[in-house]
Amino acid sequence: MDVAVVGATGAVGETIVRVLEERNLPIATLRPLASRSQHAAVRFRGESLPVREACEQELHDADVVFFASGEDASELYAPALVERGAFVIDNSSAFRLRHGVPLIIPDVNGDAVTARDRLFPVANCTAIILATALRPIRDAAGLTSVTVATYQAASGAGRAGLQELEAQERASLDELAEPPARVFPRVLGRNVIPQVGEIDSSGWSTEERKVRDETRKLLGLPELTVNATAVRVPVRTAHGEAVTFETRDTTTRPRLAGALGATSGVTFHDGGIVTPREVEGSDVVHVARLRAQDASEASRSFAMWVVGDQLRTGAATTAVQILELLLAKGYLAA
Ligand SMILES: NC(=O)c1ccc[n+]([C@@H]2O[C@H](COP(=O)([O-])OP(=O)(O)OC[C@H]3O[C@@H](n4cnc5c(N)ncnc54)[C@H](OP(=O)(O)O)[C@@H]3O)[C@@H](O)[C@H]2O)c1
Repeated sequence: MDVAVVGATGAVGETIVRVLEERNLPIATLRPLASRSQHAAVRFRGESLPVREACEQELHDADVVFFASGEDASELYAPALVERGAFVIDNSSAFRLRHGVPLIIPDVNGDAVTARDRLFPVANCTAIILATALRPIRDAAGLTSVTVATYQAASGAGRAGLQELEAQERASLDELAEPPARVFPRVLGRNVIPQVGEIDSSGWSTEERKVRDETRKLLGLPELTVNATAVRVPVRTAHGEAVTFETRDTTTRPRLAGALGATSGVTFHDGGIVTPREVEGSDVVHVARLRAQDASEASRSFAMWVVGDQLRTGAATTAVQILELLLAKGYLAA
């Protein structure tokens, strides 16, 4: 199997290459691509691979292409790749909400994949973490509304976002002049920023819209009420989400705890807390602080804390699991 990774030098692309190696995928050739050529920039199976500039020629014989760059590169190359039968697994938002294109998290809705599908957008990282935690709730008691406040890490804005936070932290420690905000709309060091993406005329940010629309698609609940407030926090990696939700049916905390505890892709912490630093490098979504919102034993209103490594479970691991699913179903030959 010949695999190309477009954006292999970025935060997500580098993680995809690492996860492909960790999970020992049957790859004959790995081709790392980026916006420009770079000497020996990517390590894979003990070798330093040159990075080439992405172009049609570099992609023409790949069986599988991971995109981990921007929407522009995905829009430019993905349609022709799909047309010739290659499998495209795309971390950009270019095709996520397109009618007829499945939006898959293997642990959540992997059975929606068909032998005809070639284009697999990977959902927004915050939506992947949220939908993975909500799926067992939906299955146990139905779901009518969700309100989420996010605590999103700097590396969610890519390598440049992480570097900006680190430079601000260093300047603060060394009592140097603080580097100005460029990637984020305000200085992130020693701060929180209630804006992720652009804010539109209705007051929603692009991230909040993605969380709402993609969570509905992932859960197959187009009418689900989703209110989101997306906030950037000075954490390096892993997004936290404070979630309150209303179930369709009256249920109990023990029943929901049982459902979460039995779900593949979720680690349920039935007591105590879990933080972003503790889940860095983890491939599952962590849920803690599950509680009913009122004192009665049976309720429809609950809250929980959810956290996941957005570069792995929110992007790279989910992307690689899609490839594993295609191999397992026999839709793609190794
Ligand atoms: N960061 C996250 O937590 C996260 C989570 C889920 C999804 N995503 C999505 O994943 C994608 C990558 O994000 P990231 O955070 O990894 O960004 P990043 O760290 O800024 O990396 C971007 C990568 O794309 C390459 N690139 C840029 N323009 C290109 C072009 N025209 N052609 C080919 N390669 C190009 C860059 O190459 P150079 O080295 O040459 O600049 C770099 O390798 C984005 O669509 C993002 O929305 C990110």
